[in-house]
Amino acid sequence: MNLEKLIEKDIDESKQGQSLQLKENPHSTRKMYIESYGCQMNFSDSEIVASILTKEGFSTTKNINEADLVFVNTCSIRKKAEQTVRKRLEFYNAIKRDENPGMIVGVLGCMAERLKEKFLEEEQLVDLVIGPDAYRDLPNLIREVDDGRKAVNVILSKEETYADISPVRLGGNGVTAFVSITRGCDNMCTFCVVPFTRGRERSRDPESIINECIKLVQDGYKEVTLLGQNVDSYLWYGGGAKKDFNKATEQAQKKSVNFSDLLDKVARACPELRIRFSTSNPQDMTLEVIKTMGKHENICKSIHLPVQSGSSKVLKAMNRGYDREKYITLIDNIKNMLADCSLSMDMITGFCGETEEDHKETLSLMDYVKYEFGYMFKYSERPNTPAARLEDDIPEKTKQRRLSEIIEKQRSHALQHMQEKIGKTFEVLVEGTSKKSEDKLYGRTTHNSAVVFDKKHYKSGDFVMVYIEDCTSATLKGKAI
Ligand code: 5AD
Ligand code: SF4
Repeated sequence: MNLEKLIEKDIDESKQGQSLQLKENPHSTRKMYIESYGCQMNFSDSEIVASILTKEGFSTTKNINEADLVFVNTCSIRKKAEQTVRKRLEFYNAIKRDENPGMIVGVLGCMAERLKEKFLEEEQLVDLVIGPDAYRDLPNLIREVDDGRKAVNVILSKEETYADISPVRLGGNGVTAFVSITRGCDNMCTFCVVPFTRGRERSRDPESIINECIKLVQDGYKEVTLLGQNVDSYLWYGGGAKKDFNKATEQAQKKSVNFSDLLDKVARACPELRIRFSTSNPQDMTLEVIKTMGKHENICKSIHLPVQSGSSKVLKAMNRGYDREKYITLIDNIKNMLADCSLSMDMITGFCGETEEDHKETLSLMDYVKYEFGYMFKYSERPNTPAARLEDDIPEKTKQRRLSEIIEKQRSHALQHMQEKIGKTFEVLVEGTSKKSEDKLYGRTTHNSAVVFDKKHYKSGDFVMVYIEDCTSATLKGKAI
């Protein structure tokens, strides 16, 4: 198994940096090229950007040579992600300088706020910088650039949820789609740059979420993933930041909708639709949510529950809001209440002050939970986060060794889970053709396990019962029955 695949998480890695393809708009003369990096939320945001600009008459292209505008939707979560984006910007800047001086190069998303001055003024690398809450202003910023000025808007909002904008579904498989339900994060985990790049947490109107899901069903989609930095913290009380909930009227508070209510509403409104959600935060996940998952067959039995460390001391330094015991109680509750639910995690190794003892606690927690999937990272100090004030004291070599150890453990747990599935039959939602063979289809089970099987007469969007015959640590292989 490719270890890199386990290390670098976020969306399907193969899609990182892909440009998005819109249907050609015959009336438009200007073409945009959008490249996305980072988490699922960024990919979802690029679909909102495409929607806003399509209304303005732009079309997109996959061919950089014919692009009038190039947008890079950026990620700041780790240093490596920022370095990748910077290289791409340098590449586009060279094309602009040498081949297409009229081309506009823009930075979208999480790196915007942090690096606006550097990109725009110091290095003159881009023409336009726009933060994740300012996309409605994009047409105005493009006009400013057309008038010969550099343009920037990185204002973060307490209200913006883009609830009324129907994302243009791009580059997808026509079967699965992302639906954003919250934006921003109030949790302030000490290592995390997200509260600074994406601002205050706010929830989207449930009606607009349900309507988007209904529309997706009408368009032939079979699965949605409800997205947020911390979905369990979803709270709709008529609009505004979550932290202002106490200021809302008593009536608004009474009528409020939490994440469990939302899940229940979406599951009822779209009984044919498979529903997933990501990401859950252990400090906010309630028993009510687990109960709702058990109540509806169409809610996938799979929970991504980032733990970050198995040591209570490290969790405290990370300001995660739970300790090892509380996390284990939550895991026990999930295992007791949902007979067969897959669990996955994110883990950070080598956080400031992490001792060998703390690392061993991480390994023993992994042994206890036995996650089906895991995304593991070396701690990467991010400027201006609370953890940046602590000493990043774990030597690179130690971080790497600890990372290799947790990756190896996770690989063996994943393989064990896969092997246990041999000889069983699972319902698979087909998402497309297997990358390795034209004769095989690729899909996923309710547990989010990847399955490959012979194509026969089946096609994308079908639900197929597949008998599992073989596996690797990443893929199940079977035959349709
Ligand atoms: N260093 C390493 N990993 C990080 N993550 C978030 N911030 C950092 C950081 N500074 C990881 C966490 C989170 C995932 C999306 O990225 O594990 O859950
Ligand atoms: Fe970052 Fe913590 Fe919020 Fe996740 S919950 S986005 S790790 S601050």
